[in-house]
Amino acid sequence: MEYKIAVVKGDGIGPEVVEGAIEVLNSIGEKFKHKFIYKEVLAGGSAYDVYGEPLPKETIDVCKSSDSILLGAVGGVKWDRLPSDKRPERAILGLRKELGLYANIRPGILFDPLKDSSPLKAEIIGDGFDICVVRELTGGIYFGERGSRETELGQSAYDIEEYSEMEVRRIAKIAFDFAMKRNKKVTSVDKSNVLESSRLWRRVVEQVSKDYPEIELNHLYVDNAAMQVIRDPKQFDVILTTNLFGDILSDEISVLTGSIGMLPSASLGEGGKGLFEPIHGSAPDIAGQGKANPIATILSAAMMLRYSFNLRKEADCIEAAVNRALKEGYRTSDIARNAENPISTKEMTEIIKGFI
Ligand code: IPM
Ligand code: MG
Repeated sequence: MEYKIAVVKGDGIGPEVVEGAIEVLNSIGEKFKHKFIYKEVLAGGSAYDVYGEPLPKETIDVCKSSDSILLGAVGGVKWDRLPSDKRPERAILGLRKELGLYANIRPGILFDPLKDSSPLKAEIIGDGFDICVVRELTGGIYFGERGSRETELGQSAYDIEEYSEMEVRRIAKIAFDFAMKRNKKVTSVDKSNVLESSRLWRRVVEQVSKDYPEIELNHLYVDNAAMQVIRDPKQFDVILTTNLFGDILSDEISVLTGSIGMLPSASLGEGGKGLFEPIHGSAPDIAGQGKANPIATILSAAMMLRYSFNLRKEADCIEAAVNRALKEGYRTSDIARNAENPISTKEMTEIIKGFI
């Protein structure tokens, strides 16, 4: 089969890690006889430098006409002073919205060989954890009404958190469907002791749960959830939450797995198309040094194979190769301990390719 993939390398370490993922995809293509056709487009700061805007129309068009999208990361100090509609982050938000990618899946899995890199104590980790964060991605405060005005107290600014029943229902269904294939437990995270939008969220999630009698549903307030993921991450299977809470909790969970350089993500809508990207940012401090960890992006490519192209064997193959590289002790600097000699982005890529 042939698959058309739009590639947005982005800024900072984005190009380095995306190149790693493409090499691994090519090895998969050779082994399983698939053809991946890449079309590179610009988004983020690099697009701003060329087009004067972070998300050019051509990029949106190419992404829309591709089977799927692989993205590195966007942003950097160079563009930090731009007005909000020109900032590199607008590119990611714009792509999510334009393509209707409302469901963000972020698996927080602690790979066994990385147990020592987790900041958690061994007795809390036990035999590991596997949390799937299902984050709503095209609604809430990220996309609500916003503005600023002059007041007697100086300038004031606001961003509104608003959710409709439809938006909550469709993301809740995704979370319950994922849980059905896993350990059948959903924890919905909100702030319904304070926020009206959270009360609606909770009511709709309760309604949806009636269609899934096998699933155990519980609710946590977000402050408590932030504490519980550290205190006892093993209690979680699927975490269902809003755009903002999911952004925060997924960074927290990522570091529990050893490094933010390990976590992939899938952003999905109706139909097979998705946007696949590591959850980490562009890491300007290490950009261009060839030492970024490519694993999160390589695992994002695996998610693309599984969720966009339904190539499960192929996705398993990538995950097994990553696991083996870690098991055999290969470490980039973010996951290396003092005694270990860190390897480069390219070396890690070669090692993983060798295990495909
Ligand atoms: C993420 C990022 C983005 C977000 C930024 C870059 C807009 O932090 O994907 O988690 O807030 O969603
Ligand atoms: Mg984030």
